Amino acid sequence: MHVCERDFGFDKVCYLQSMAYTSLQNKVAIVTGAGSGIGKATAERLALEGVAVIVADIQDETAKATAETITAQGGKAAPVHVDISSEEQVEAMVARAIELFGGLHILHNNAARLSGVGSGDKDVTRMESSVWDSFMAVNLRGPMLCCKHAIPRMLESGGGSIINMSSTAALSAQQTRLAYAVAKRGVNALTQHVATAYGKDGIRANSICPGPVQTEGFMAHVSPEYSAILRDNVLTPYVGEPSDIAALVAFLASSESRYINGQIISADGGMLIHYPTMAQLRAIGVED
Ligand SMILES: NC(=O)c1ccc[n+]([C@@H]2O[C@H](COP(=O)([O-])OP(=O)(O)OC[C@H]3O[C@@H](n4cnc5c(N)ncnc54)[C@H](O)[C@@H]3O)[C@@H](O)[C@H]2O)c1
Repeated sequence: MHVCERDFGFDKVCYLQSMAYTSLQNKVAIVTGAGSGIGKATAERLALEGVAVIVADIQDETAKATAETITAQGGKAAPVHVDISSEEQVEAMVARAIELFGGLHILHNNAARLSGVGSGDKDVTRMESSVWDSFMAVNLRGPMLCCKHAIPRMLESGGGSIINMSSTAALSAQQTRLAYAVAKRGVNALTQHVATAYGKDGIRANSICPGPVQTEGFMAHVSPEYSAILRDNVLTPYVGEPSDIAALVAFLASSESRYINGQIISADGGMLIHYPTMAQLRAIGVED
């Protein structure tokens, strides 16, 4: 059992997470963007399941801190510097996983530039091409490069599971944040391609589309007003935590999910399943 306790201002959450997946024992994972937020929670969760984790991030200090937390808890982890938009650095990251841990079974393509306030990611007529290019370089080319270099090593290791981080932004449109949405739709195409091309060889690929999740990155890019609107439209009594997504990654990495391949899976508290007018109707009182 592992106690999770976090407080980002939405809800203070404290609950027990049970470890479950014996098939993950002694496996090797790369988690990109593992220095903070969902990637950090996932690296920690996988390590608790017995996975040796490459904690990859562009920010060395945070990657080091995540790896130290894991090793202090008795897990196996190593920090690795990577900018996922650089093919050379991605290749070196994968090589380091093999060098340190002797194989590769799990790739969690989590790192991304987040969109929102201050990101420059606007509507189509106000889109700076440099902003578009930088979102595509990190959020779309990055996961492609990681798949390109990880898959041959995963095949040599006997197969495995790729979990690509998408977003509800890939499933429905907004007035702004176009580059982020298009890149995440591309990630879903990457998932379906990998599942189709390598499923028979024992490599599964799935996408996770989170709704709002309380991370440092998310809180920095949304205004309090926008947060409140998102909270109203999530159908659960709470807003998602990084550990909620980490639990799904652990399941998709394990053999318990062995017949799930090429899927685009939402973890959004039901945010996208209702009429868009629901929150306003609830505010004025629902009619019988
Ligand atoms: N938090 C949410 O509400 C939410 C919702 C939907 C999807 N997502 C997705 O979940 C993933 C994680 O989001 P988060 O909220 O934890 O974000 P975060 O900002 O807390 O973490 C992202 C991490 O990625 C790293 N990173 C950024 N660019 C990189 C690069 N070029 N190379 C290597 N590392 C890089 C950052 O340093 C950071 O540690 C992202 O793919 C994001 O798009 C998040």
